[in-house]
Amino acid sequence: MPDLSNMNGFVTAAGSGIGRASAIAFARAGAKVLVTDIAEDAVEETCEAIRAEGGTAEGRIVDASSEDDAAAVVDEVVSRWGSLDFAHNHAGLGTAAQPFTEQKRESWQRLFDVNVFGLMSFMKYELIQMEKQGSGAIVNTSSVSGKNGSPGLSPYNASKWAVNGMTQTAALEYADKGIRVNAFLPSATMTPALRSWSENSPEEFRSVTEGIPMKRVSSPEEQAAAAVWLCSPESSYITGTLLNVDGGDCILGKQ
Ligand SMILES: NC(=O)c1ccc[n+]([C@@H]2O[C@H](COP(=O)([O-])OP(=O)(O)OC[C@H]3O[C@@H](n4cnc5c(N)ncnc54)[C@H](O)[C@@H]3O)[C@@H](O)[C@H]2O)c1
Repeated sequence: MPDLSNMNGFVTAAGSGIGRASAIAFARAGAKVLVTDIAEDAVEETCEAIRAEGGTAEGRIVDASSEDDAAAVVDEVVSRWGSLDFAHNHAGLGTAAQPFTEQKRESWQRLFDVNVFGLMSFMKYELIQMEKQGSGAIVNTSSVSGKNGSPGLSPYNASKWAVNGMTQTAALEYADKGIRVNAFLPSATMTPALRSWSENSPEEFRSVTEGIPMKRVSSPEEQAAAAVWLCSPESSYITGTLLNVDGGDCILGKQ
């Protein structure tokens, strides 16, 4: 496990699934973690899980689409612990599958408010703080859907291409300022939503897993490990990477 003791940061959407696993993994690696999510109970549950293992966590309700919340969460980490060493921008909305021509502008807008404009705001305040420090690592959650096309998922797919573009552009702009910016690209992951779908539609779920080279979906912990590693000193020469965490899915060119 990478050593992140003496590092402080936060995770957005850390109340469930990959975000919760990430907050726990950062804390297990020794970091102090501000656990943020829009859902209050979920924030508290993640904090309790971290504290039960002896880790350090504080919770804050944060809407990942809000520029004010982006500024406030960066300020809070710095005023509590003195620096912002890592940020995992994990929040992202999905969409119901629909043909392009049936997608509504409002649903694109709602999704872009979190996945694109929200991420832009969080990265902006993180970069301002990290530039003052001359150090820091940002990791964004993208998706294998942001690599090629995803029929039926046009707003989601486009938003994750935007995540990749923001990641690589910021990586270049800040590469000589001690700041690294990377993204990891999950494929299907066993979050609570996927678990209930797999239980309700076992045949469809089996056909999904059969199509994955490793013949299974990932666990949230396997995704979280990538987030922690990309923020750790162990990946010190890596910036602008878009790391597939997909059991080999992208090699098939399916995504
Ligand atoms: N689960 C997968 O198979 C998969 C695959 C690829 C990418 N992703 C990415 O993972 C992220 C979603 O995480 P998950 O799959 O662990 O989901 P999840 O459903 O388990 O958790 C989503 C969390 O986001 C929180 N949330 C929703 N809106 C928010 C907002 N406006 N501000 C702050 N928090 C908010 C919810 O309260 C919840 O705790 C997205 O960025 C998504 O694109 C997931």
